[in-house]
Amino acid sequence: MALRHLSVKAFLFLGLCQIGRRGLASAPEVREAPRKIAIIGGGIGGTATAFFLRQEFGPAVKIEVFEAGTVGGRLATENIGGHEYETGGSIIHPLNLHMKHFLDKLGLSVRADVSSKMAIFDGKELTFEESDWYLVNVIRMLWRYGLNFIRMHMWVEGILDKFMRIYQYQQFSYSFSSVEKMLHAMGGDSFLTLVNQTLEEAMLAEGFSQVFLNDIVTPVTRVNYGQTVRINGFVGAVSLAGASSGLWAVDGGNKLVCSGLLYHSKAEVVPARVTAISMKTRPSKTGPVTSFYEVNYIGESGAAHSTYDIVVVATPLHQGLSDINFSGFSPPIPSHFPGRYHQTVATLVHGLLNLSYLGTTLKPEDFYISDVLTLDKKASEIHSLSSLDPVKIPKGYTRSSATQSKVWKIFSSQPLSQKHLQQIFLSQESVFEKRWLAYPSYSPPQRRTPPFILHDRLYYLNAVEWAASAMEMSAISARNLALLAHHRWYEQTAKIDQEDLHTRLRGEL
Ligand SMILES: Cc1cc2nc3c(=O)[nH]c(=O)nc-3n(C[C@H](O)[C@H](O)[C@H](O)COP(=O)(O)OP(=O)(O)OC[C@H]3O[C@@H](n4cnc5c(N)ncnc54)[C@H](O)[C@@H]3O)c2cc1C
Ligand SMILES: *[C@@H]1O[C@H](CO)[C@@H](O)[C@H](O)[C@H]1NC(C)=O
Ligand SMILES: *[C@@H]1O[C@H](CO)[C@@H](O)[C@H](O)[C@H]1NC(C)=O
Ligand SMILES: *[C@@H]1O[C@H](CO)[C@@H](O)[C@H](O)[C@H]1NC(C)=O
Repeated sequence: MALRHLSVKAFLFLGLCQIGRRGLASAPEVREAPRKIAIIGGGIGGTATAFFLRQEFGPAVKIEVFEAGTVGGRLATENIGGHEYETGGSIIHPLNLHMKHFLDKLGLSVRADVSSKMAIFDGKELTFEESDWYLVNVIRMLWRYGLNFIRMHMWVEGILDKFMRIYQYQQFSYSFSSVEKMLHAMGGDSFLTLVNQTLEEAMLAEGFSQVFLNDIVTPVTRVNYGQTVRINGFVGAVSLAGASSGLWAVDGGNKLVCSGLLYHSKAEVVPARVTAISMKTRPSKTGPVTSFYEVNYIGESGAAHSTYDIVVVATPLHQGLSDINFSGFSPPIPSHFPGRYHQTVATLVHGLLNLSYLGTTLKPEDFYISDVLTLDKKASEIHSLSSLDPVKIPKGYTRSSATQSKVWKIFSSQPLSQKHLQQIFLSQESVFEKRWLAYPSYSPPQRRTPPFILHDRLYYLNAVEWAASAMEMSAISARNLALLAHHRWYEQTAKIDQEDLHTRLRGEL
């Protein structure tokens, strides 16, 4: 009896194995795990991808991150007078949950907060100066712009509410195969419309005044994206959210998140420039022909190549930013997608500010403005002028007035001449210039955004920048691609491009 029982069990067990075997092709759970994954680019996007891929695929897979320049990419610092200062991406919104999560995971902390004060410059004089008194600011704004301010706050809040849905979807492992599908899942048709019209069109349609757009909204889009209110409405809303309170940065420098994520994900950094990616096939003894990717690169010891099961491109495929030859793909994959990246020059000057340049009559000892934004006027060649704090705030640090020589950062589209700098500064101890191809040059309506999926198992992270470029956007894209790569590998289609997630997940969490 016992024996019979056992054999029945054994039989059942064997039977299950048989089903398991036969099911190999169709039963997703038993597909072999990928062995090697390549990520091209070690910025926040690429390093976050390494982190999330490790989470999805487990400890066995080998993850290699190719970086031609410096880990951190557009998150970078420069040493001036013994302190480091951010030259690229600098501020993070309080509701950027992935960036927050990374800090917790990596044991990093938020940089100490130094109070700031804003003014607006029209190229001749300051048209607005923030007061130390909150109520004074509110009354001035109400006086000049009526309810525009409060309405703007509500408008951005409404968009942010929908934006936040992505975190719940990702928590439940849902992924999207295109930027459009992701945006639609977050905010429905209204988000697609927002991406395809200018911020100006979107806000005028909402009843905001043109004066308010020129005086208040333009300075914000200029400082954040170096462009006017003709950027798309979605990145415009991201920009306006970046003008709220509670903004933060990483103690020691934002780029520490990138090196931290690489370490945490046990990814291997390959210091090399990828020159080409091609598809190869290999006949396998047991099953059908398998395909894989060959990555060609030039490193310190010359040209070499390696093969991978999955590849994630985490650098913009645009002129001046990368030059990768995709060969053997049908349909072909371009080295450069349509559209271009906007040049933003960051000039860091350690010097004494010439207050007359700003047309202010304030005495240097009374000048505590930290951020000067600008109007879109011919006279204002600069986009912004900000007093910079070091990435590590020394104990007892307070912002000094304009009587002292300190570090200022100017954003402009064109490099500043020495003559121009001599007008802005009374004295200059040092000048550092970094020319960034910073973010897309947005001009909606745009043709379709580039795809997340370039080929079967070849993905493109920076497609997301055409909706909006920000650290958190790259992190969201990274999580999405890690999930997408996993679900496509194991054929879990129920976790890809699901409609109506917002209603379906209501009540969960
Ligand atoms: C001046 C400036 C200010 C900004 N301000 C903010 C801000 O305040 N807040 C915010 O959230 N965002 C800001 N941003 C945007 C933000 O910095 C970017 O959206 C984000 O850093 C992009 O990260 P990424 O990893 O996707 O791309 P990148 O950081 O560009 O990383 C791509 C990496 O790929 C490498 N690479 C390229 N080609 C190859 C190749 N062929 N082989 C190997 N490696 C290659 C590059 O060297 C680079 O390191 C700002 C950007 C700039 C430039
Ligand atoms: C890209 O690769 C193809 C095939 O190897 C080659 O013919 C072509 O010249 C390459 N193009 C560039 C720009 O390197
Ligand atoms: C300061 O700026 C004013 C106004 O632009 C300019 O006339 C003056 O020459 C500048 N001062 C110095 C010392 O450069
Ligand atoms: C954006 O507008 C263009 C031109 O009007 C149109 O071709 C395209 O389909 C629109 N895209 C989206 C996502 O609505």
